[in-house]
Amino acid sequence: MMKIRVAVIGCGAAGLCALRHLTARPELFDAVGFEQLNNVGGTWNYTDKIGTYDNGIPVQSSMYKNLRTNLPKEVMAFPDYPFPSNLPSFVSHEVVLKYLENYCEHFNLQQYIKLETRIDKVEPIEGENQTEWKVTSTCDGTTECNKFDSVIVCNGHYAVPLLPEIPGMDKFTGTIVHSHNYRVPEEFKDQVVICLGAGSSGQDICLDIATSAKQVILSHNNTPLVTPLPSNVSQKPGISELTADSVVYKDNTVEKIDVLLLCTGYKYDFPFLDDVCKVGIMDERVTPLYKHIIHAKYPSLSFIGICKQICPFPQFQNQVQFVLSMLDKSQSLPSYEAMLVDIDRDFNERLGRGLPTRYAHHMGMAQWDYNDAIAHLGGFQTIPKVWKAMYAQVSARRKENLITYKKRQYDIVDNVLFKEKLDV
Ligand SMILES: Cc1cc2nc3c(=O)[nH]c(=O)nc-3n(C[C@H](O)[C@H](O)[C@H](O)COP(=O)(O)OP(=O)(O)OC[C@H]3O[C@@H](n4cnc5c(N)ncnc54)[C@H](O)[C@@H]3O)c2cc1C
Ligand SMILES: NC(=O)c1ccc[n+]([C@@H]2O[C@H](COP(=O)([O-])OP(=O)(O)OC[C@H]3O[C@@H](n4cnc5c(N)ncnc54)[C@H](OP(=O)(O)O)[C@@H]3O)[C@@H](O)[C@H]2O)c1
Ligand SMILES: *[C@@H]1O[C@H](CO)[C@@H](O)[C@H](O)[C@H]1NC(C)=O
Ligand SMILES: *[C@@H]1O[C@H](CO)[C@@H](O)[C@H](O)[C@H]1NC(C)=O
Ligand SMILES: *[C@@H]1O[C@H](CO)[C@@H](O)[C@H](O)[C@H]1NC(C)=O
Repeated sequence: MMKIRVAVIGCGAAGLCALRHLTARPELFDAVGFEQLNNVGGTWNYTDKIGTYDNGIPVQSSMYKNLRTNLPKEVMAFPDYPFPSNLPSFVSHEVVLKYLENYCEHFNLQQYIKLETRIDKVEPIEGENQTEWKVTSTCDGTTECNKFDSVIVCNGHYAVPLLPEIPGMDKFTGTIVHSHNYRVPEEFKDQVVICLGAGSSGQDICLDIATSAKQVILSHNNTPLVTPLPSNVSQKPGISELTADSVVYKDNTVEKIDVLLLCTGYKYDFPFLDDVCKVGIMDERVTPLYKHIIHAKYPSLSFIGICKQICPFPQFQNQVQFVLSMLDKSQSLPSYEAMLVDIDRDFNERLGRGLPTRYAHHMGMAQWDYNDAIAHLGGFQTIPKVWKAMYAQVSARRKENLITYKKRQYDIVDNVLFKEKLDV
């Protein structure tokens, strides 16, 4: 039998996970991972640089120097590869990068990875019986084309800033920075800084900057967080306007500020997908993706890691296994029409709950039923229930106290139970 040739684009956590499962079945799959940088790990490779790396590639990492994980390593891990047990639950970005490098080494993935090889273009070649993929890549100035039976897109979606349009932004004479380019709190010594947006970035960076800034304001459109905050951090509503040196909040109060730090999130971007792939991005909704993974029109084109507000590595593992269960034909996909109906149903259900289009791939606690659902469809093991239980506990702890939640230590006891203690 002819092997199924699979191209994996990107070797961050998602791409490594795809390669780990593809290369476990060498009799069936012939896999190649393409990574534009000279190392694996994606966003977990912290760099002091902003803008571009020395080779001109835009900086992929959105890590800052003092970042620690906002999930305990016990649930952050791929379920088949735990972090070392001697570490605290909330680890630094260096530890996560090392973990991913170890995962790569443990499963012998290096031999399948082409480093410093950038994917420029992906185009379908529609044949009589099946679609093939023409994949164009560049390494060291040399461009080549290869054919694959399937392409798995794992290029991440936290590298291209989503910049809001705020009236008066062009008149503001202070500093405007996006969280993608935030590195160290010392940059803002003795300044008045607004962190706009209270997602994970806004919530975490406001605390980091408070160690050095004069005053930090977490400005956002949600109901105020009820957590304790350092004395020099306060909350304000979102911004309605900027002037030369001040901000006007939505409650019409005005404040003089030095820095506007945009913690406003990121954009999906697949610059290498040719238009004929017909992948749409509308207000941060990627279409037409069945179960947020499989292109309904071209099912041999799939995407790992599209969802937001999740426990990423475990979900990547399920999504990869789902894709493989379709590629190896152990399971079959619904018809094109039935997939479109399912996509619409999922999206309309969100709109029905009052969510905006940009929440099309948000999961939160719904991720666990979703993970189980794709496991059932793909015919593989579900993630143990203890993952959901620990994730829920940590989410609640984070909500009640943003300052102290990373001080706790978690342990998995069995498939259902976990232990929690205050670290000393
Ligand atoms: C600031 C920050 C903090 C986070 N904290 C946590 C946390 O505490 N816990 C957690 O579980 N998750 C966290 N995450 C989520 C994180 O995104 C995921 O954990 C995970 O690393 C995503 O992996 P990925 O492979 O999808 O994307 P990435 O890590 O972005 O990897 C994508 C890779 O694709 C490569 N690539 C892109 N385009 C091309 C191309 N054209 N050709 C070749 N290669 C290409 C890139 O170079 C990169 O190496 C955080 C994210 C950010 C931004
Ligand atoms: N380990 C850590 O501690 C840590 C730290 C930082 C980031 N992260 C991770 O990094 C990823 C990205 O997180 P993120 O926070 O950068 O992005 P995000 O989750 O998309 O959050 C962006 C936030 O900005 C808000 N926003 C956008 N435009 C706005 C505007 N004009 N005014 C006010 N608010 C606005 C959004 O509001 P809406 O909800 O209304 O769209 C949203 O709440 C996540 O996976 C996260 O877990 C982890
Ligand atoms: C991080 O990425 C840069 C740019 O690709 C690379 O030079 C460096 O070696 C990487 N760091 C680690 C620790 O892998
Ligand atoms: C397509 O499938 C049919 C029926 O199996 C076969 O006869 C034909 O040769 C195939 N075409 C190509 C281009 O492989
Ligand atoms: C802000 O508060 C934090 C925590 O209470 C403190 O460590 C820091 O020194 C304060 N910054 C200034 C400039 O006062």
